Amino acid sequence: QDEQFKKVISHAKEYGYVFPSSEIYDGLSAVYDYGQNGVELKKNIRDYWWKAMVQMHENIVGIDAAIFMHPTTWKASGHVDAFSDPLIDNKDSKKRYRADVLVEDYVAKIETKIEKEVKKAAKRFGDAFDKDQFLATNPRVLGYKEKGDAILKRLAKSLDNEDLADVKTLIEELGIADPETGSKNWTDVKQFNLMFGTKLGASAEHAMDLYLRPETAQGIFVNFLNVQKTGRMKIPFGIAQTGKAFRNEIVARQFIFRMREFEQMEMQFFIKPGTQKEWYEHWKDARIKWHLSLGMGEENYRFHDHEKLAHYADAAADIEFRFPFGFKELEGIHSRTDFDLGKHEEFSGKKLQYFDPELNERYTPYVLETSIGLDRMFLAVLSNSLQEETLEDGSSRTVLRLPAVLAPTKAAILPLVKKDGLPELARKIVDDLKWDFNVQYDEKDAVGRRYRRQDAAGTPFCITVDHQTLEDNTVTLRHRDTMEQERIPINELRNAVLKEVDM
Ligand code: GAP
Repeated sequence: QDEQFKKVISHAKEYGYVFPSSEIYDGLSAVYDYGQNGVELKKNIRDYWWKAMVQMHENIVGIDAAIFMHPTTWKASGHVDAFSDPLIDNKDSKKRYRADVLVEDYVAKIETKIEKEVKKAAKRFGDAFDKDQFLATNPRVLGYKEKGDAILKRLAKSLDNEDLADVKTLIEELGIADPETGSKNWTDVKQFNLMFGTKLGASAEHAMDLYLRPETAQGIFVNFLNVQKTGRMKIPFGIAQTGKAFRNEIVARQFIFRMREFEQMEMQFFIKPGTQKEWYEHWKDARIKWHLSLGMGEENYRFHDHEKLAHYADAAADIEFRFPFGFKELEGIHSRTDFDLGKHEEFSGKKLQYFDPELNERYTPYVLETSIGLDRMFLAVLSNSLQEETLEDGSSRTVLRLPAVLAPTKAAILPLVKKDGLPELARKIVDDLKWDFNVQYDEKDAVGRRYRRQDAAGTPFCITVDHQTLEDNTVTLRHRDTMEQERIPINELRNAVLKEVDM
């Protein structure tokens, strides 16, 4: 697992997807830059989301609110008081950790043990193996599960009750050690707010303390009436937004999984109070379908229903994805009730209500939220796509099987040789196709090497111009995943590629 993850990180750098930020100064922890391919993949994921959420829904519109917001926003939203992580320091190593993550990692190890048991049994029983039955009846597995559940339950209860002393006791009882040094010498657990502060204004006395937004959602809530009135929106309706968010994450690891500066794609769906259960199910279903439409394997997703709810939610579930380091949260679906609009009414003194013409009454709408991290989705796509294959002739091939709709470059145009007018012809094809999708011209090295380079970069098609092209205006179209080649007329290229890559 670790090896595979390291490969993903180095591949991301080698092929211009993700670079450490300000690398010539040795980088900045948990901050990353997207390179020439990364920016395209990111844009395509964003567009794929936007199309599904905004373009395809006549009752969902987009906005682009500012990153800076009036500071009272964050008092109202609860982030000033409640947006914090429980931290613990190791007295020997002086390293700082999220106390809850230490415990969760401990439980994840128990889950790994269960997976091992399953694998062992599957081998032993062969075709007769029934995984569900095994999980439900095997005493050892049940024991592990019970232990893991009990630990998580206690953790959730202690955190809910702000009983940080018990979180420390739990860490000590489980004998959890500093993952890097093995030391078990812990300090007390303390809460640490995750928002980045900054100042607005030049003079010290008049400067205003601001926060960089830790989520995009609040920009939607404060604009609820602006959009509802100017767009003459009728409930139920949604407002979508993509944009940067900032969190001073302490456990800054796992590459772009947990960053300090990241991008969210969020949608707040405003509904009639009392209908939240239906809409919660509706959006869970719609969002998992969106993920599955990318064809990255149904077995790589699962729902995790929250028992411990955030301060704003009456129901919440995560869509988890199988990252190289295990199943982790990719997206959240939250039933937020009227918590946010209600709080903003309270703190601003302005009514944020909707007049329902059918009921002939006013109410503060309830909200159903879908929230996904763009960078985290990027990591899901990238890590799922990177594969090392052994070919029939025994050689190996690195291939990035990105969903074609998301691939940065859709087709590479390759003249077989650098003479006889082939480069000129290839350039003509480039100039023709670039109006419709990203293409790349490549004439360096033998054509086999060029194919491999494009496979590793994730390009779904290679178009090769050879001597036969001069005679009959056909080219070979090579498919990245199957490596199959077909001969097709130049004037059919556009449609052949668009058929696979169009969103
Ligand atoms: N408005 C609700 C909200 O922000 P969240 O669960 O805190 O909920 C939503 O975040 C999503 O944002 C997560 O599911 C994750 O994909 C992404 N996300 C959160 N923190 C992140 C971080 N530090 N780095 C990258 N993505 C992050």
